[in-house]
Amino acid sequence: MPAANARPVTLITGASEGIGAELARIMAAAGHDLALVARRGDRLEALAQDLAAEGFARPLTFACDLAQPDAIEPLAQGLAAAGAQVEILVNNAGYGMLGAAASLAREDQLGMIDLNIRALTDLTLRFLPEIIAARGRILHVASTASFLPGPGMAVYYASKAYVLSLGEALAHELRDTGASVTTLCPGPTLTGFQARAGFDATLFKGPRPMEARAVALAGYAGMMAGKRVIVPGAMNKLTMIFARLAPRALLLAAVGRLQEGRKA
Ligand SMILES: NC(=O)c1ccc[n+]([C@@H]2O[C@H](COP(=O)([O-])OP(=O)(O)OC[C@H]3O[C@@H](n4cnc5c(N)ncnc54)[C@H](OP(=O)(O)O)[C@@H]3O)[C@@H](O)[C@H]2O)c1
Repeated sequence: MPAANARPVTLITGASEGIGAELARIMAAAGHDLALVARRGDRLEALAQDLAAEGFARPLTFACDLAQPDAIEPLAQGLAAAGAQVEILVNNAGYGMLGAAASLAREDQLGMIDLNIRALTDLTLRFLPEIIAARGRILHVASTASFLPGPGMAVYYASKAYVLSLGEALAHELRDTGASVTTLCPGPTLTGFQARAGFDATLFKGPRPMEARAVALAGYAGMMAGKRVIVPGAMNKLTMIFARLAPRALLLAAVGRLQEGRKA
């Protein structure tokens, strides 16, 4: 546990671009002290400098590859050494890969488990005692993929089903503690996600993608209100309802067709 006089911070993973960077901007402007994590330390530093130049508290930055199993311990030690105590944890870092499971590299697909599931769970369990003690908050970034089976992105969709399941269960476990767990389920959002997943954003055939800032604003508001699940945008809400009502075979066919159409 951190020292009694530790400074409360919001730890945001995947803050070097996309939804995580927008969450960092929104939370800095709202007065939160931040600690930012991603592999590209130069981008974190540039963001930290921008925020400081705008008059907000300068975030701590930690360049690390969270998919490595030994990454979390040095991060926790770095936070403790900086006198920081995690009051809010934003588990946002994640990636997906487009393609049939049999056609994608096994290591890359296991890497999704390492980042989207293992690192997220490790960070959550590691900081849970201090978050509960501080009556703090956790925001998990899942996806509308959490509601669906995902042929064409099978491991990614399954990883996001895990994130939603974990988040909802923890929200229930923590309901009388004053701490809260919110799971944000965005649909298609224009970020670096599409390039890493292997599809061209201009090929979107489904709902029009949302802007990262709008998604981040919805996530931040939902987290601060202690909501259990947030699905931003009308089309994404419709996707969730469709996923709950439609027969599984129809969903499999629809998602399979959608992913097929996203191939570059
Ligand atoms: N964009 C969408 O359409 C969409 C839809 C639903 C859900 N989501 C979810 O939203 C979250 C944020 O994604 P995004 O759309 O903002 O994508 P993004 O622009 O690609 O951002 C991903 C962030 O994660 C970081 N990251 C990736 N691998 C990492 C690793 N091994 N260790 C540490 N950090 C790592 C990246 O930074 P570095 O490269 O510097 O490490 C980056 O800051 C993800 O969990 C994603 O699954 C996205």
